[in-house]
Amino acid sequence: MVDLGLRGRRYTTPALQRTISGTPRRFHPSEATAIATELLSETLVLPTQTSPLFHVIDPRVFERPLLDELCSLATHARLLAKSEMGARALRDLLPTRRAMLYFTQPSTRTFLSFNNACHILGMRTSEIRDPSTSSEVKGESFEDSIRTFSSYVDVIIMRTKESGRAAQAADLMNGIPRPVPVINAGSGSDQHPTQALLDIYTLQRSFEEHGGIDGKVIGMMGDLKRGRTVRSLCYLLKNYQGVRLVFIAPEQFAMQPDVKAHLDEHRIPYHETTKLDEALPALDALYVTRMQTEWDTAGESRAVDLSRFSIGAPQLARLKRDAIVMHPLPRGPEIDPSVDQDPRAMYWRQERNGMWMRAAVLIKIFGAEGRIPDAPR
Ligand code: NCD
Repeated sequence: MVDLGLRGRRYTTPALQRTISGTPRRFHPSEATAIATELLSETLVLPTQTSPLFHVIDPRVFERPLLDELCSLATHARLLAKSEMGARALRDLLPTRRAMLYFTQPSTRTFLSFNNACHILGMRTSEIRDPSTSSEVKGESFEDSIRTFSSYVDVIIMRTKESGRAAQAADLMNGIPRPVPVINAGSGSDQHPTQALLDIYTLQRSFEEHGGIDGKVIGMMGDLKRGRTVRSLCYLLKNYQGVRLVFIAPEQFAMQPDVKAHLDEHRIPYHETTKLDEALPALDALYVTRMQTEWDTAGESRAVDLSRFSIGAPQLARLKRDAIVMHPLPRGPEIDPSVDQDPRAMYWRQERNGMWMRAAVLIKIFGAEGRIPDAPR
């Protein structure tokens, strides 16, 4: 008997119409030859710009059906990975795909969750985290560097200090003969679409038994002016009915007019305040963010009395019993570590949800959703 080492594949040849899933299947040599012949004649299908999901750059393009599908794919992968057999089936989903992680701005969670999401799906990864190790120091243009990455891999996942860089890379891809998808893993203080997707997944999971995200009051607190996570999340929230937002920020770090204009356009009510204590009792979720001190030009952040935009035991006491506290992390002093013990603290689960949501995004980009075996419920 021959082990072709193939799992989770569906064959079209009538005699072979079956899904090979789970443990390695062994075949009689005559059958194995027929399968091997079929496989060799099968062309690898690569995603194109007309695929349901290609570049992930701007959260505004996401509609509710895709968000729901990504959330259920994330759950599917998460549950499947709980068993040895399920984890192996996930690893067999994309073993021929390669990803480039181009992270020239510091990152812990986004880098690790993407890297591990790739590995969970059997993908191989290359990385550049320090621009001084890339030919950009020899004067190679950003465009030429991106085009070079695309020569070797099937997806580029990138984080840059500058805004708009991922969009620029995607535009470049759209004009070349072998484009690969570009995923924005954080662009300057502008957008962070996959963080917003994982935030939606966290909200949806948390409110699963309470009517979902529709109708919820969501507070966002901290440096809303320069925080890309809250900006992207505001864009995705247009997909949910009856959501109300409360922005709790020092006046000099209030939410930017472009996001407020978007909310107005989509008739999402928002209220701005500097008084956390007054806002707390009405909230279903409080999304806390840190001061983005890396953007300071003259120590602006130091002028803020952060104690007014932080939570600890006294603030938890004013929050609903079934509300949740989120944070994209890393945290500064704005969440007291004692809050971690409270069942409403959702940020560690949010961090882990990121890996599953990023796996879902990759599954969707490569069109592998139809090849995932059922997960235990
Ligand atoms: C955020 C980021 O980098 O924008 N973190 C993350 O990706 N998990 C938030 C932050 O740095 O404050």
